[in-house]
Amino acid sequence: MKLFVVYLVSLFVTASSFSCESQHRQQQRFHHVVLFQTSKREEFDAHTSTTRSRFLTQAVITSVAASTGPIFLFQEPALARGRATLEFAYDKYTPRIMAGGSFYKSQLKNMIAGNDFAGIKSALAEPPKKSKEDRAKVDGGVTERASQAGQFSDSRVIVAMDLFASQFSDNSISPKTKAMKKEVDELRSIVQTMDSLAKQALGEESAGGGFFGLGKKQPNKSEISQKMKELYIEGGTAWNRYVFAANDGLPVTFNKLPYL
Ligand SMILES: *[C@@H]1O[C@H](CO)[C@@H](O)[C@H](O)[C@H]1NC(C)=O
Repeated sequence: MKLFVVYLVSLFVTASSFSCESQHRQQQRFHHVVLFQTSKREEFDAHTSTTRSRFLTQAVITSVAASTGPIFLFQEPALARGRATLEFAYDKYTPRIMAGGSFYKSQLKNMIAGNDFAGIKSALAEPPKKSKEDRAKVDGGVTERASQAGQFSDSRVIVAMDLFASQFSDNSISPKTKAMKKEVDELRSIVQTMDSLAKQALGEESAGGGFFGLGKKQPNKSEISQKMKELYIEGGTAWNRYVFAANDGLPVTFNKLPYL
């Protein structure tokens, strides 16, 4: 319980560190943060009581369903491809996913709170394309290029989430994979928007067509800063929904993925 209170406090600090908002936005943010809390609570209780966890899982599903419409419900553990294959994929992809999650809630959060647009851009940067020089290298330059990918880049984190989601399907796509991929798509689009906003703030990109209902008007830095903070909360919420879907029905021998 003490632990849970600490979570609440840290989430509140997260929410309140982003100031300068209208009352309406504050309410919206609070609503999303509540989703973070509910998920966190479910995870916390899962460690302490199975029965309670079941009950809370149901509560999470109900509360998520009430706020976002249709939601997944898995009756059976999804293990379409067999345990050995899942173990292999788990070991291969989840370290990247977990490292991405801890980067998101610490460094990336600080960059966003501090309007460090150059930092955000480099955190989301894709590795450079394979060059002629790379081909001459022993490993084709794979190691070097991978080290140049941002800590929360698509190729480092979101691709791993996507591939891990696919592991829960065989010939046909399972509801679990579908639920996980829905959040992958959402997070991917949020990250692309964050990347574009960071580049706009740095003057490297223009707003182009339709920008969040602002038309072709170039947003100023305070608008970009505001939108970035909203995207951070939306992305974190999508992340936690992904974790919820990934953990649901995961065999007990696997460690559950942590929520943000
Ligand atoms: C940015 O744009 C908004 C909306 O057009 C405006 O209210 C605000 O004063 C602008 N801020 C700055 C620093 O220019």
